[in-house]
Amino acid sequence: MQSAPISFDRFDSLREEEAQQRIDAARARLGKKAVLLVHHYQRADIFRHADLTGDSLRLSRLASQSEADFIVFCGVHFMAEVADILSRPEQVSILPDLAAGCSMADMATLAKVERCWRELAEVLGEAPDSRFTPVTYINSAADLKAFCGEHGGIVCTSSNARTILDWSFAQRPGVLFFPDQHLGRWTAHQMGVSLDEMAVWDPDQRYGGLTPEKIRSAKMLLWKGHCAVHQMFQPAHIQRWREKHPEGFVISHPESPFEVCRQSDHVGSTELIIKTVKDAPAGSRWLVGTELNLVSRLAEEVRAEGKIVEFMSPTVCMCSTMQRIDPQHLAWTLENLADGNVVNRITVPEHEAALARLSLERMLSVS
Ligand code: 13P
Ligand code: SF4
Repeated sequence: MQSAPISFDRFDSLREEEAQQRIDAARARLGKKAVLLVHHYQRADIFRHADLTGDSLRLSRLASQSEADFIVFCGVHFMAEVADILSRPEQVSILPDLAAGCSMADMATLAKVERCWRELAEVLGEAPDSRFTPVTYINSAADLKAFCGEHGGIVCTSSNARTILDWSFAQRPGVLFFPDQHLGRWTAHQMGVSLDEMAVWDPDQRYGGLTPEKIRSAKMLLWKGHCAVHQMFQPAHIQRWREKHPEGFVISHPESPFEVCRQSDHVGSTELIIKTVKDAPAGSRWLVGTELNLVSRLAEEVRAEGKIVEFMSPTVCMCSTMQRIDPQHLAWTLENLADGNVVNRITVPEHEAALARLSLERMLSVS
């Protein structure tokens, strides 16, 4: 007979070593029934258990191709939602700690995006659907992906944003991009859209705080959202480092502020950052603007080749929500699964999932 789910209280104070042993034991019992998809920002004590790792795009594809019954997502909430949307109905997507959200994703809500769409209609005198393609960064809730699906829009990630914006501008003259203004601005700038043709939409002000003329002439409306981790990187960090290491290279994630991206030698997704540094010549020196767990692991991995990898900010910039996935939560989740109890399942209601799938599948087919 199946036992009742074990409560997390019994795992909360597990010592690290015991938690690790229980993860290994539960995984052995589960075998191929469970797959662990792990984002590059996960802490070392979780990353070591990964079956598959990647950036958001790669992990979305892996989730859509997985044969496992249980997709255990060591990442944040929107990633587990995408896994649920793209996997088969009988597969189960699990997030070991439900508090692992993404603070940037929370900066755009469906209510605020719908209000923005209504206000755009008022200013334009017609439905915005013929004027703006809505594009949501994958770091967003499923209902916003559904909004994009319903309005002929699309999802993008940090690795395909350029291709997705090309597609979006081919549909309509303008783009409404949410929630990350930095990714939107940098990508559009790379495509030759001038900063004058972009405007920041502040969701807490009427008409986004913009004049009707500015809205009508804008090519790119950028939602006023950002990542608190990448916001910490500053151009002064790069300048000081370059003075000491003029031979070195700088690489940043596109969630970093515009000036940081502009002063970097390379800008790209977590996957691109890792690949670029790993493929670089032995002995090269790198300053990296992205989350600390990734940078520390990368520094360790390339040290033997004489490469030096340094973190961009003098202050610690970890993604505190990714950090919430710890060995205690993973052990709790996996032991329950091995006992036949599903805990922390992430389910997107089907009516919403169907529309969200539209915008995600558009993305996967374009990129
Ligand atoms: P990547 O898709 O580049 O892994 O980025 C995800 C993310 O949340 C970065 O902050
Ligand atoms: Fe969200 Fe920033 Fe964390 Fe990425 S690093 S998951 S954007 S809060």
